[in-house]
Amino acid sequence: MNKIKNVDEITDIILNSENVVFFGGAGISTESGIPDFRSVDGLYNMQYKFPPEVMLSATFFKNEPKEFYRFYKDKCLKPMLNSEPNATHIALAELEKKGILKAVVTQNIDDLHYRAGSKIIYDLHGSSFRNYCIKCKKEYSIEYVLNSKDVPICDCGGIIRPDIVLYEERLNDETVEKSINAIKCSDVLIVAGTSLVVYPAAGFINYYQGNKLILINKTEVPNEDRFNYAYYGKAGDVFKNILNRLSS
Ligand code: APR
Repeated sequence: MNKIKNVDEITDIILNSENVVFFGGAGISTESGIPDFRSVDGLYNMQYKFPPEVMLSATFFKNEPKEFYRFYKDKCLKPMLNSEPNATHIALAELEKKGILKAVVTQNIDDLHYRAGSKIIYDLHGSSFRNYCIKCKKEYSIEYVLNSKDVPICDCGGIIRPDIVLYEERLNDETVEKSINAIKCSDVLIVAGTSLVVYPAAGFINYYQGNKLILINKTEVPNEDRFNYAYYGKAGDVFKNILNRLSS
């Protein structure tokens, strides 16, 4: 594996391709002020009554909705509503406009890729910006959920839930199929801002069949040898460089 130090080399590989796919995780949104999960300052290293994997599970949501929403509103929704797209989100939208990037496959549940202008987005773990009543399926905004007292309740009396994939739940079949297809057909696959420890999402990068598999991550990930190139640092540094090259 070629451990790349200088961002121009990665930028050249990406700008010289016409079929790039991006696979991202929570590390992409940390530069927008949203904590990730497993970094030292991430959600999983803060002290809670239960581990976050428990609190973000379907069982916990069903049995302890009040405790679920206390954690989810405080640690997930509030940072999202105070965030703006960063250079990575903006550069990916620009690369799509130029016909270089074909899809964003994300594990994130924030709306930063949408707000940056990306159009082809496969959100594997859903989105906090889509909420619905479990009973009647009526849809609600994230603001309604955040501003509700304790557990958000629908006009019909049912509990409102976010359209996110909780632990123990299945990913959306159509989103999975489109993600795998995009990855399979890609010339360059960029994997960025993810610890690659949560399956099945982490396994989808194994469908890549080319020889330009690029890792952009602050820290090491499992099975690093499968990557053709690796840049250890902030995703924003690479994508600010791409933005500069696109505007020059
Ligand atoms: N640039 C590049 N990498 C970064 C940056 C950054 N600015 N900030 C953090 N990282 C890296 C961290 O080093 C870490 O390896 O991003 C990775 C984030 O890993 P996680 O916090 O585990 O996030 P993620 O991989 O998206 O988690 C996957 O776990 O809890 C579930 O459903 C949740 O979708 C999430 C899934």
